[in-house]
Amino acid sequence: MERANLDWNNLGFALVPTDVNVVYRWSDGVWSAPEFRENFDLNLSMAATALHYGQAIFEGLKAFELADGRVAIFRPDENASRMQNGAKKLLMEAPPEELFLEACVEIVRRNRRFVPPHESGASLYLRPFLLGVSPQVGVRPAVDYLFAIFVTPVGPYFKGAKRTIQLRVDEEVHRAAPLGVGDVKAAGNYAAGMRAVSAAQRDGFDNVIYLDAREGRYIDETGATNFYGVLSGPGGSTYVTPKSRSILASITNKSLMILAKDLGFKVEHRPIDVSELGSFSEAGAVGTGAGIAPVGRIEWRGRSFNYGDEPGPVTSALLAELTGIQRGTMPDRYSWLRPV
Ligand code: PLP
Ligand code: COI
Repeated sequence: MERANLDWNNLGFALVPTDVNVVYRWSDGVWSAPEFRENFDLNLSMAATALHYGQAIFEGLKAFELADGRVAIFRPDENASRMQNGAKKLLMEAPPEELFLEACVEIVRRNRRFVPPHESGASLYLRPFLLGVSPQVGVRPAVDYLFAIFVTPVGPYFKGAKRTIQLRVDEEVHRAAPLGVGDVKAAGNYAAGMRAVSAAQRDGFDNVIYLDAREGRYIDETGATNFYGVLSGPGGSTYVTPKSRSILASITNKSLMILAKDLGFKVEHRPIDVSELGSFSEAGAVGTGAGIAPVGRIEWRGRSFNYGDEPGPVTSALLAELTGIQRGTMPDRYSWLRPV
């Protein structure tokens, strides 16, 4: 294999065109065979339900080059089942898990030369998505769907940030409601939060923390990640992460709750009152794109909570464990890697 000619050590989270993407269509009650294509254009009706009524969900997952040169995808079965949950909520037709997994493996194989070298620490990001494509003007679910995946090599999500990121608690915008669709990866959730994230970035922050929409009191998550704080005391350290009906069910966070316990930390999965920010010794923003982004500072109502300019001990231990498993330098003891 001849690797693509890219500056592997300086990738950001930006779109780099690769060799091929894949499209499947659901119509007349069956999924089509995969159509492998070289460009990003879709032939889509201007009346597609995805465009007007938001029947659009997506996923994000990563493939890593392991130390021995093999390639593996991190927990794609979890993304397949989350897409199914999202599709159920938005009355869409989701690809079966086997189709989703086969598509992921095949699209990585066909773009092998874009998987960043192991030593770069970068990865290949997969973006599966599902759209309602039937032309309709009435508000009702489409009968035809399109499932597709493109891939792009990525480096750090928060590229401008130094070792830690800066967040601001936003009290002007709610991203998602408790009985809404915040727990699935509906495209519209991101549009709903864009004005908050853009305003924070204009003011020099990397992202925002949203509070729950019912009481405006509990930490939900950031615009692109789940959140955790660390409580440290004489009895040890505790990984505390929000339980909320309006946050995305993060696969990274689910994995970290397991790894934190393995490392001997306690884990609390419960509502976090925003006033608790002052009790944390560390904080982190976690997701596929971001990995574990250590949080250096959070601003809330003009107060600043500081967690240091370097990742703290719990964050560092979690980082070593998660990246070790993902990159094949530690045993994959939970079989989270799917070989390509
Ligand atoms: N929360 C939001 C809003 C996200 O967009 C993401 C990214 O996918 C996450 C959390 C993290 O989820 P995961 O770890 O499954 O990527
Ligand atoms: C991810 O981490 O996969 C995300 O989808 C976050 C962001 C790019 C929306």
